[in-house]
Amino acid sequence: MQEKQQVHLRSDIMNQSFLDNFERVSKDVEKLGKTINWVPTKNYTDVVTKNKTKGVIYAWQVSRSTAEFLRFLVVSTSSKTILELGTSIGYSGMWFGLGAKETKGHVYSIEVFKPKIKLAKEHIVSAGLEKQITIFEEDIFSALKKFKKKIDFVFIDAKKEDYHKYYEQVFPKLRLGGIIVADNITNYKKYMTKFLDTVKNDNRIISYPLQIDNGLLLIKKIRN
Ligand SMILES: C[S@@+](CC[C@H](N)C(=O)[O-])C[C@H]1O[C@@H](n2cnc3c(N)ncnc32)[C@H](O)[C@@H]1O
Repeated sequence: MQEKQQVHLRSDIMNQSFLDNFERVSKDVEKLGKTINWVPTKNYTDVVTKNKTKGVIYAWQVSRSTAEFLRFLVVSTSSKTILELGTSIGYSGMWFGLGAKETKGHVYSIEVFKPKIKLAKEHIVSAGLEKQITIFEEDIFSALKKFKKKIDFVFIDAKKEDYHKYYEQVFPKLRLGGIIVADNITNYKKYMTKFLDTVKNDNRIISYPLQIDNGLLLIKKIRN
């Protein structure tokens, strides 16, 4: 019989009731991510037109296996300053928050769409991770201009056509040895050719395209 897959969490840092609660909230957000939708209001001028399909807006969150892998990466690289571009309703953010709890780090996640921000905050509080996660409620480009900390880990998961611009803006802020992970390099490859070309021709990094779920591009900064 196949052994049930288990996330190996640090029980020395998190007690069982915290972990049980995290698991429960995580499962709820996984379900919600598949069903949630809003009808855009009259004033709704979302920067993310791709996120709008026939008047319905989806959470577009990563799957459980990607979330678990991201948390593992954060913990195994001892990343403390974690930046997420695209919070949505907080699912990947919760898993980064779990990683940050283990590394004694902090997650800064950026989201511009208010209804999602409201839900993300609720989920983060329910998971008991409000001390680990800060949401910047604004456009990624303006938030990045103000962000002065040296970053250990970046997760790019916002507008696919803008990945190359995000990359340019975050790279100088990433510490040497720091990691960038970009989501959707398989299913939305056609929207990010500029980004993929930039990475391919960048000798300041090493990269690896990991074919799990929607495809993750793993990048490590080896030169300034
Ligand atoms: C794919 S979803 C993020 C999913 C989330 N990382 C998860 O897995 O739970 C992308 C999010 O990026 C946000 N977004 C896109 N462009 C943005 C921008 N320029 N500034 C802020 N948020 C943006 C969208 O509103 C959307 O909620």
